[in-house]
Order: sequence, then structure tokens, then C-alpha cells
Amino acid sequence: MPDCYAVVGDPIAHSKSPLIHRLFAEQTGQDMVYEAIRIDRAAPFAPAMGALVQQGYRGFNVTVPHKLAAHELADTLAPRARRAGAVNTLMVNADGTLTGDNTDGVGLVQDITELADFPVADRRLLILGAGGAVQGVLEPLLAQGPVALHIANRTADKAQRLAEAFSDLAAGTHLTAGGLDELERLDTFDVIINGTAASLQGEALDLPAHLLAPDGLAYDMMYGKVPTPFLRWAERVQPAAARRDGLGMLVCQAAAAFEIWRGVRPDAATTLEQVRQQL
Ligand code: ATR
Repeated sequence: MPDCYAVVGDPIAHSKSPLIHRLFAEQTGQDMVYEAIRIDRAAPFAPAMGALVQQGYRGFNVTVPHKLAAHELADTLAPRARRAGAVNTLMVNADGTLTGDNTDGVGLVQDITELADFPVADRRLLILGAGGAVQGVLEPLLAQGPVALHIANRTADKAQRLAEAFSDLAAGTHLTAGGLDELERLDTFDVIINGTAASLQGEALDLPAHLLAPDGLAYDMMYGKVPTPFLRWAERVQPAAARRDGLGMLVCQAAAAFEIWRGVRPDAATTLEQVRQQL
């Protein structure tokens, strides 16, 4: 019997993870199956997961809305998952205990620095949003050594609390925070990452036009068949800048999870092209 893995979330029907992991398994010759399983957002998470572990599943990806519950559930946590305050990858150990990890941040960094070939060391970074999605990626972004990282959020004090919580990891980076309404007075940024849920609601953020450098990168952690409102804003105000959606981040975080489970690293760039064609 091949080893079984699953992504758990709610909703889950449109998850790209089964496709991505099937492509990884083919590419690396791993004998495994990978399914999407809905765990009702209103149901208790721990018993549902316990039942799946009993059935013999070897590992899980965890997506909305269960990443915090998975963080609670894990018996041991990778340090980066503790910092992220969320778990997107669970490994079932031989004794049935669960190790929690978070590969979202390294996925984002790999997509930007390797697949998009856009180094962020010594660059000025702006992150929009201060929710779980942003908390999940701050540690690996700071580890790249940007010269400045500003967190801007609709609710400014949430951004400030996040900046304080990560200040010990910001050696060499000028880490600051504020409201979305204060962006007017800030300098141009080399990379702007949208980690707000605004795109999800199809809403554009009202951002000043000067924010993005002509040789910069606008990155939306969301993706879709058509460009997100944030990427359309970037195209309008700074057509020369590069634009990228979060499909590469999705593939790269999956590749890191796959490596944790299987010990082999799939080629994310090739897989991203295949997944893009099937969007
Ligand atoms: P997640 O875990 O996906 O990050 P979250 O914790 O609910 O979800 O955070 C959503 C983020 O998107 C927050 O930064 C939120 O801003 P607030 O903290 O002010 O609520 C931001 N957000 C959601 N809708 C937004 C909108 N229409 N405009 C601007 N920011 C928005």
C-alpha cells in the first residue's frame, strides 16, 4: 500500500495541492497518494485528525481555517512554526505523535528569490497586512537581510505588535510598522508583498502611486485565473515593475512539505508551469 497524505481545510474542493503533490510524486518516483479532505470549520479539529492518523495517514498539509488549530494540536513544533504561530505541515511520527512545521515563509522566499530570481537582500520591503498570513512569512523574509521591512495594516496597532514580536530577528533590517493610511509619506519600495485578505474580497487597496520602484516587484500572496486587484494596481501605477501572484508560493511551500515527508526535493519551477496551465 502506498503511503497516504492529505490536505485538510474547509473549503477544500478547489485545492490545487492534490495536483501539485501528484506531479511531485511522478517527478521524483515516489509511491504515494495524496487527497483533499474537508474538515468542517465548525467541527473540533483534534478528533477529526486523530481519526485520520488512526487510518494510517503519514502527513498532512493544513490550510484555511485550521492552521492555528494544527499549531495547537502538534506534539512538537519546528521553531519556525512556533514563530509563525501557525502550522501548514504535519508529519506523523512512528509513535503516532505529530510534528508541526510551517513552510509558507520559505515557500514565499524561494518563489521570490529563486523562481522569480529577485533577490531581497539589502532591498526595501513593504508588507501589506498583519494577519496570520503575514506572521507566517516574516521570519524567513527577515532572514534574507532586507535593509528595511515595513509592515502596513488597515489596523495600525496590529502591524506594530507584529513588528515588536519580530524585532529580535531584525538585526540589520530597519523593521517598522504603521497604518495603510500612512504610506503616503514613505519612500519607494523595491518589493511590495500583499498579504491582506482584500484580494479575496476582490477589493483593491487604496495605495499611493509612488510606492513601487520601476525595477521593483509587486507580489500578491493570493492567486487566481486573472490578475488580482493588487496586481492590477501595480500594473497601472508602475508598468515597468515585475508582478507575480501567489501560485509559486503555493507550489514552493508544497515542495518544502514534500521534502519533509519524503526526503527528496521536487523541482518547483517545472511544477509551477504545469499547475499554471491547469488553472
Ligand atoms: P489571514 O490569517 O489570512 O492573514 P486575518 O488574520 O483575518 O487573515 O488577516 C487579514 C488581513 O487582511 C488583516 O491584515 C486585515 O486587516 P485588519 O487587521 O485591519 O483587519 C486585512 N484586510 C482584510 N480585508 C481588508 C480590506 N478590505 N482592506 C485592507 N485590509 C484588509
